[in-house]
Amino acid sequence: MKRIGVLTSGGDAPGMNAAIRAVVRCGVSHGLDIVGIRRGYCGILEEDFVKLGNRSVANTIHRGGTILETARCEEMKTEEGLRKANENLQREGLEGLVTIGGDGTLRGATKLAEAGNVKVISVPSTIDNDVYGTDYTIGFDTAINTALDAIDKIRDTAGSLQRPFFIEVMGRSRGFIALEVGIAGGAEDILIPEVETKIEQLSLDIKRCFERGKRSSIVIVAEGDDAGGALSIAHQVWERLKMEYRICVLGHVQRGGSPTARDRVLASKLGAAAVDALVRGMSGYMVGELKGEKAFTPLRETWEKRKELDADLLRLVKVLSG
Ligand code: F6P
Repeated sequence: MKRIGVLTSGGDAPGMNAAIRAVVRCGVSHGLDIVGIRRGYCGILEEDFVKLGNRSVANTIHRGGTILETARCEEMKTEEGLRKANENLQREGLEGLVTIGGDGTLRGATKLAEAGNVKVISVPSTIDNDVYGTDYTIGFDTAINTALDAIDKIRDTAGSLQRPFFIEVMGRSRGFIALEVGIAGGAEDILIPEVETKIEQLSLDIKRCFERGKRSSIVIVAEGDDAGGALSIAHQVWERLKMEYRICVLGHVQRGGSPTARDRVLASKLGAAAVDALVRGMSGYMVGELKGEKAFTPLRETWEKRKELDADLLRLVKVLSG
């Protein structure tokens, strides 16, 4: 193998630059030519290629976002898009490809790998942590720490004015972010798509919380919760309790910022492992980390199989809200 490409696709996540850097520098150490593909799969279709060397990724390890930029590419989901992508990759002389991203990226990577024109290894990176085959995705640790910082600050004002607060976090259709920040932030309730939300019970919990002498009630709402977002849930609770409340939607703040040490290390390990795997002739796998060990999972399984939430953490929510 002489020439490989690297792209980031879908929602950006802190740590993507550290992963790109690892791919480039590990590739260079193997004597490979490295081609950066801008704006994910759209960049393949538009032939937006750029040669990368060790200096191109200098001073990037600490930066959020992605220096290659990213996109959600609808055309790549079509037969015609896939055909064109394969053609362009071939014309560029790329024998291997490292994709960095979440669910949508892994689906695209699966199709390219199955077409067989180019060897593909994927690196999981999304703040949502909803990828099967890895305990943590790159970006998740930074996102939960960013959200936690905000929640800690909200707790100060919530307690001072004795109000319930409904804080909405990202996570798409899964509750990984909500569960972790809820536990770490000492939330009184955590509402996630994986568990049915009962507004009556939630209202009762909030009421009892103040009756027990608590000065605030922090409710973390995952954006994909079945009862709606923080705004809708807060209103439904207000209809029952008539208690003044505030909401806060953390939104895209969770996606930005300098990656944590954990994310940088994970990204460095997985980026390098992806290149090593290509050099060994592997294709059609995602490289993740399970229980601290590198783990290769067939691409199709990463989005067809469902990653479960930590059942122990789920059980703790009620016990710890005291
Ligand atoms: O997948 C990452 C994510 O941030 C989700 O948590 C969120 O639902 C979505 O992307 C937001 O996407 P966009 O940036 O396109 O609004």
